[in-house]
Amino acid sequence: MSESKYLEEILQFKREDLSSIAKSVIWKAPANIALIKYWGKKGNQLPINPSLSMSLSSSHTRTELQYRKAENNYGRITFKFNGEKHPAFEERVKAFIDKILPFFPFLKYMELFIYSKNNFPHSAGIASSASALSSLALCICSVEKQLKEEYSGTEDFLQKASYMARLGSGSAARSVYGHYVEWGASGNGTDDFATPLTSEVSENMEFLYDTVLITSSEPKKISSSQGHSLMNDHPYKEDRISQARINFSQLKETLKTGNFEKFTEIIENEALSLHALMLSSNPGFILINDASIKIMDRVRAYRQETGAQMAFTLDAGPNIHLLYPAEEKENIRNFIDNKLRGLCESGRTLNDFTGNGPEQPDKDQNL
Ligand code: DP6
Repeated sequence: MSESKYLEEILQFKREDLSSIAKSVIWKAPANIALIKYWGKKGNQLPINPSLSMSLSSSHTRTELQYRKAENNYGRITFKFNGEKHPAFEERVKAFIDKILPFFPFLKYMELFIYSKNNFPHSAGIASSASALSSLALCICSVEKQLKEEYSGTEDFLQKASYMARLGSGSAARSVYGHYVEWGASGNGTDDFATPLTSEVSENMEFLYDTVLITSSEPKKISSSQGHSLMNDHPYKEDRISQARINFSQLKETLKTGNFEKFTEIIENEALSLHALMLSSNPGFILINDASIKIMDRVRAYRQETGAQMAFTLDAGPNIHLLYPAEEKENIRNFIDNKLRGLCESGRTLNDFTGNGPEQPDKDQNL
């Protein structure tokens, strides 16, 4: 976009809103756990296959964005993570803002102060990029809403936030909504934002616990982005796309009927297929460890023995997410304490459950 177009755009904003006093917006966005995995990209951050996730409740990022018109129109970004400088995240945030500048040209003339906080530990098996980038995308869309005269309703707002979040991190597109969220099902180039699952969800599936069994908090050997790019020439790429499509439509059906056994079969197949794709990439890589394998084995053995309803899934890392319905809470928590906790790093686990999606907290509500 040309410089004069930027200026034209900025003139559409209410002048008083660009005064020297910084205004602020705050969004809290949840982490999400994919049940059907996004793995592999095409074009501009578009997925090669459909994915379906569950947004979490407790694990979230709170981002406060303070903004004001920059002196001499020279934009600047100050970023803090958990109250401190974080060069790696700062670089990612700046790259993200650069990427979305064509959609929000006014940002170029603003001084932005971005304060992001996670309430879950880094390397706990929960990707922080999804909640971090979706909360930031929501903040930027809110700034636009505050500045622009005309504005066109909630749905467009969330769609736009999801579109923008996607440009920062694919899975972030899904963190803009609560409950179950789908992304990438059309496969025809119109997958530029995620949408809440529109098909029916049976009562027993509406709310699930997710206990993350932390087997290692070491930083990942390979980033998700590197992993995605290894799908480009993967020998199983086409079969993976077909498999994901089938699993996606079957999971939607299963969420409708509430068949937990089928749910288990599908999501465990997805998790193991994701890691099988990593093993068979060129170069191949291994993200699971001994403890991850033992935990998956013990979960399957206990389920076989007792018929307990629980299903595991893994993201791009060695930590296991164990999902179970509310009625199994006591049983599964005892099983975790007796049989799984000993396999976790320093016995660490993290409890979460299905969440309602992003919120705009009060300024004094800290996390
Ligand atoms: C295995 O969203 O982290 O968690 O788009 O490069 O930021 P980028 O990748 P990212 O990939 C997530 C991969 C996954 C599966 C999923 O969340 O669907």
